[in-house]
Amino acid sequence: MDNKYNRILITAALPYANGPVHIGHLAGCFLPADIYARFQRARKRDVQFIGGSDEHGVPITIRAMKEGITPQDVVDKYHKIIKDSLEAMGISFDIYSRTSSEIHRQTSQDFFRKLYDDGIFEERVSEQYFDEEKQMFLADRYITGTCPVCQNENAYGDQCEKCGSTLSPEQLINPRSALSNAVPVKKATTHWYFPLNKYEDFLKTWILEGKKDEWKPNVYGQCKSWLDSGLQPRAMTRDSSWGVPVPIEGAEGKVLYVWFDAPIGYISATKELLPQAWDTYWKQEDTKLVHFIGKDNIVFHCIIFPAMLKAHGGYILPDNVPANEFLNIEGEKVSTSRNWAVWVHEYLQDFPGMQDALRYVLCTNAPETKDNDFTWKDFQERVNNELVAVFGNFINRAMVLMHKLCGGRVPAFHEEAKTDLDLQMIQSLQTSKKIVTDSIENYKFRDALFEVIDIARRGNKYLQDVAPWTLAKTPELQQQNQQLIDNCLHIALQLTANLAIFINPFLPETAGKICHMLTVVNKILEWENAGRMDLLKTNYPLRPPELLFRKIEDAEIEAQREKLHAAAVKKTDEQAPPDFLPVKETIGFDDFSKIDLRAGTIVAAEKVKKADKLLQLQVDLGFETRTIVSGIALHYTPEEIIGQQVTVVTNLAPRKMKGIESQGMILMSEDADGKLVFVSPRDNAAKNGAVVS
Ligand code: MF3
Ligand code: ZN
Repeated sequence: MDNKYNRILITAALPYANGPVHIGHLAGCFLPADIYARFQRARKRDVQFIGGSDEHGVPITIRAMKEGITPQDVVDKYHKIIKDSLEAMGISFDIYSRTSSEIHRQTSQDFFRKLYDDGIFEERVSEQYFDEEKQMFLADRYITGTCPVCQNENAYGDQCEKCGSTLSPEQLINPRSALSNAVPVKKATTHWYFPLNKYEDFLKTWILEGKKDEWKPNVYGQCKSWLDSGLQPRAMTRDSSWGVPVPIEGAEGKVLYVWFDAPIGYISATKELLPQAWDTYWKQEDTKLVHFIGKDNIVFHCIIFPAMLKAHGGYILPDNVPANEFLNIEGEKVSTSRNWAVWVHEYLQDFPGMQDALRYVLCTNAPETKDNDFTWKDFQERVNNELVAVFGNFINRAMVLMHKLCGGRVPAFHEEAKTDLDLQMIQSLQTSKKIVTDSIENYKFRDALFEVIDIARRGNKYLQDVAPWTLAKTPELQQQNQQLIDNCLHIALQLTANLAIFINPFLPETAGKICHMLTVVNKILEWENAGRMDLLKTNYPLRPPELLFRKIEDAEIEAQREKLHAAAVKKTDEQAPPDFLPVKETIGFDDFSKIDLRAGTIVAAEKVKKADKLLQLQVDLGFETRTIVSGIALHYTPEEIIGQQVTVVTNLAPRKMKGIESQGMILMSEDADGKLVFVSPRDNAAKNGAVVS
């Protein structure tokens, strides 16, 4: 830590209390934040580690609607599940609070009120969709209709889940209220906008000039592209009955935008934890504020919240925002709606007492610089080949050999018998300490953990090279070599104590078990002790070895894979739309004949970058070849559709998707399994360009 800091305030993103947490949440922010917090505590730094549930926002009201309960019921239920899972995983928050608390309502309202009184907000009237039956304004998610891109009839006002297009409610064809199915009407409403544009210069100086070499490239890069494309005022209030009420007169029925109140949740939680001293952590320049988040939260933590803090005045800004990328599961993006996820509370049930195994795998495989993949096979291999076979094995061998060859006590170290191998082992520990320390300080947790395992790997090699069991082959030999044997096990045991210190931020439960075997108190885990070779006193009696980890069997991995797939399928069944949608309103022949349909042949196809559902096609229409972007990538590979004849809508206005202009649309239908199939001339027999009528 730089000298300019005297304390560290660590936050981990507040998860929405609309469902349990999955391992992507752990890998994304909770685990790195916890490793960092435990490490800094071991360095005896003044640390507060803040977390809590984000209990406002549309996802929570949607979940309430689905389950037929109130939003408060939803957050009560999931706050508890999340809190318990994180605790069981050893995430060592100093407080895990929630944003439906009274102290948070007060804190976020005061914050808003100060900005309001200082004249920061711009008041604007806009037209928004309103449900007359329910007498309420509709959040984007509450409006459904037909997707203009793929014609999916159940697209949302912010996104079509079928083709992945980002939408606004205005783009939906035949919009309906998801609450009442009524046709929504436009109605004027007033909101308060935060003028982000006015903070552009401040943000540019602070981030683009100040943080270029400090922040991770993924974080800096996202900030730069936001700043380069120019910031717009953003509404900080919403029409809703769930949230923190807007604390000004005439704002009945309005609440704070969830991304306004949620980050203030870090402040309210600190207040709740430290009613007297909270502002030391938030207002003094010698506090290092670090936000651990996932990449989808970057703009809120690096741009919007800092601008809010700046506008308010008196608060410090984050020193760093080490955001992780995403963790996919078995090659596919996590999807809570498809139930494609590994839920933490379920893992803990299936692998009781094995939270450190999961912490290990998620840290070695953390998506620190790019999206990564979690597979159960990889989980098994890392646990069996690294934790069990390297780390656990070294400690077990040291303990077993000491009991066998040194009478259950820490043997003395005889200086006069010291060898080069001993010396190398001792010295390499110093190098390791520096690597681990620097890596954690720089948020490179994978590198740090790799180095820790490498200490154990070198320990195994050392035991193999000295081979004390050969030195003690016969009682005579043992007597002759006892000094060498003592030295080898003395070093191996001091190394074991060191491993407890090094592994502690990552696998705290394991560190505790090692301390127990070594009959030492957890106080030795302080970081300043790392690298010392006198942690265990000579002649000190030690306990019998206990196994630190167990192997994962093939059958367990199979069972997890099946569970994942079975759960995902089940969810699809539950949400399957009715077999046949109602027939649309009657149209005249004139309406129909406006549509120009032609036969064409796909002559080239490729995936669209950063859009897993889209293919970019070249379609030969006889008179010309057109580029068409189609949402079929989950159903077909590019190779298998080249040569396929299709029916094309040729007079649809061109549309840009992912920066590519799509010059038409291909007609598709669905088979009985929901797979998209082409509506095409039999045997590819039509002439390209021929009219379809
Ligand atoms: N609930 C948000 C999410 O899961 C994160 C909120 S972080 C906070 O994406 F800073 F706003 F609290
Ligand atoms: Zn769509």
